[in-house]
Amino acid sequence: MIARRDMRVRLAARRELSPSCFLLELVTDTPFEAQPGQFGMLACRAGRDPFLRRPFSLAAVGARGEGTVCELLVKEVGRGSRALRELAVGGELQLLAPLGRGFDLATPEGGRLALVAGGIGLPPLLFAAERLAAAGQPFDLFLGAATAAELLLVERCQRAVGAVGGELVLATDDGSRGERGVITEALARRWASGAAYATALACGPTPMLAALTQLARSWGLELQLSLEEPMACGVGVCLGCVVDGADGRRVTTCKEGPVFRASELAARWWQ
Ligand SMILES: Cc1cc2nc3c(=O)[nH]c(=O)nc-3n(C[C@H](O)[C@H](O)[C@H](O)COP(=O)(O)OP(=O)(O)OC[C@H]3O[C@@H](n4cnc5c(N)ncnc54)[C@H](O)[C@@H]3O)c2cc1C
Ligand code: FES
Repeated sequence: MIARRDMRVRLAARRELSPSCFLLELVTDTPFEAQPGQFGMLACRAGRDPFLRRPFSLAAVGARGEGTVCELLVKEVGRGSRALRELAVGGELQLLAPLGRGFDLATPEGGRLALVAGGIGLPPLLFAAERLAAAGQPFDLFLGAATAAELLLVERCQRAVGAVGGELVLATDDGSRGERGVITEALARRWASGAAYATALACGPTPMLAALTQLARSWGLELQLSLEEPMACGVGVCLGCVVDGADGRRVTTCKEGPVFRASELAARWWQ
């Protein structure tokens, strides 16, 4: 397990990606590593407003000099994410990372992974895609959003997929880019035409994860889901993020997740 650290991070760059989403490049002198699917708790502003840190999936983590560069892909939805949009380049924040359990990227010999991202569910799957590309492990990436403007970092996704000869499948609800309809329908079409996957990894809105769980069950496909339950502490103390587990236990999303095998979660969680 990789030890978590509470680090001072500096905003090195921010790139606007859509009217509501932006990419943050954070640098720290602290060397640290992380697994795709792990997250960090970020103090979004110096001082006490907002009081609680906010959870964000790590979209990329790599060495830079003696320290580390870490990327977050953020959608502005409220006070914390707005503060991140307003933070001046060079500004400093506090980040506790890496936290939680990430994706298991191991595949059987010759097996292929399906990565499925809905909207702002992309960050942990982008991290997984770039790791898989670097390791030469084959995968296809399914990326869905409401409109073309909300499909994020498409060229970067294409580069990662292209490095291992995989397919990038795009879908939008309004048909403005890629296939028309939701991304789970695009996956179902590939499955029906013979695409056989060893495992699917997914992050996105709950209805997308629920639809995918039903499909994966009917296909006998192993599925790992990254859940985004609201979190207060991020380290298993407040119990604010618990969901029902398959064995009747209440499981903490922050510590035992955020990535779960679908079979570890109670069926009623999806209804
Ligand atoms: C493990 C994990 C990873 C995440 N990764 C990312 C990421 O990579 N990029 C990203 O943009 N967001 C991510 N989120 C969601 C992100 O944490 C919230 O959007 C953020 O905390 C909102 O803070 P805020 O102060 O801007 O908004 P707030 O003022 O706290 O909330 C604004 C609105 O967003 C709703 N909201 C807050 N948190 C969540 C949530 N977790 N799920 C659904 N609705 C929520 C609130 O109910 C409210 O309606 C992740 C959440 C978790 C638990
Ligand atoms: S967020 Fe506090 S226990 Fe998970």
